[in-house]
Amino acid sequence: MTKKVAFWIFLLGTISSSAVFLWATWDTHRQVAVLSNVDKLSDRVVAGKRAFEKYNCNDCHTILGFGAYYAPDLTRVVQRIGDDGVRFRIKNPEKAFANSWRKMPDLHVSDAEIEDMVAFFHWVNEVNNNDWPPQDSKKRMSRGEQAMVATVGVSPGAAVFQTKGCMNCHSLHGTGGTFGPALDTIGRRLSMEQIEHYVQDPKSVNPKAQMPPQKELSARELEEVAKFLSSLK
Ligand code: HEC
Ligand code: HEC
Repeated sequence: MTKKVAFWIFLLGTISSSAVFLWATWDTHRQVAVLSNVDKLSDRVVAGKRAFEKYNCNDCHTILGFGAYYAPDLTRVVQRIGDDGVRFRIKNPEKAFANSWRKMPDLHVSDAEIEDMVAFFHWVNEVNNNDWPPQDSKKRMSRGEQAMVATVGVSPGAAVFQTKGCMNCHSLHGTGGTFGPALDTIGRRLSMEQIEHYVQDPKSVNPKAQMPPQKELSARELEEVAKFLSSLK
């Protein structure tokens, strides 16, 4: 290749990729007002954004592409874990992430600020970001996962499952341990009573059981977690 040819390849390549870039930027800006539901920007949403900044949540989390990558992306967090899931995690991070190697500090966020942030997360969730970040796409979630998102947080049984060590050995939707079986569809095979029975005393059901009896659970917690698991079909 001569120098002259290389020069023209460089020049045309630069001009054409710049043109595509400028067009894409212009096209996105043209659509921003519609894609981001500017009309739904209430005072509460704005207050939620302020609280998000006040506590520097961005130091660990990303939202709409801004922030750090230590902690999960929060762009689609209400879709993923529900309003109550968000409230619970901000209020009791030590309990919520007790079994996790990554820790979120208790930032002592007030209840009012938590409500504002929930409104803010709802607004962000509705922003049409052209399916980005892709892992949280509504389309890609299976029906089971959507049911899970609806249950986690609102259901006390799901909270027991997450905080009482079940996830050290069992997984739901690919999250959790592998020593025990995944329990995504356990409700198809076992009733609530059968699950209660198993969790209390595995060996009475299956003499070869390796699961230790879960003695830490209160009667109430046992009932809730069995109810939750029996609903997973
Ligand atoms: C020092 C880092 C840090 C800060 C600051 C922080 N978080 Fe977190 N947060 C984490 C980590 C780490 C996790 C994930 C824990 C895990 O799942 O193992 C998390 C998880 C969460 C979750 C659950 C996400 C999910 O998909 O399950 C929510 C909601 C959340 N944080 C909200 C907030 C809010 C709101 C703030 C600001 C008030 C905040 N965080 C500040 C580290 C942080
Ligand atoms: C130390 C690991 C461990 C812990 C902790 C644990 N399990 Fe298990 N679990 C197992 C194993 C392994 C099995 C497979 C059967 C067996 O060998 O006991 C099992 C089986 C089960 C089953 C029956 C599954 C089936 O397909 O029949 C249920 C229901 C269950 N566990 C629920 C729970 C709940 C709820 C908790 C938390 C309160 C929990 N487990 C905590 C290891 C564990």
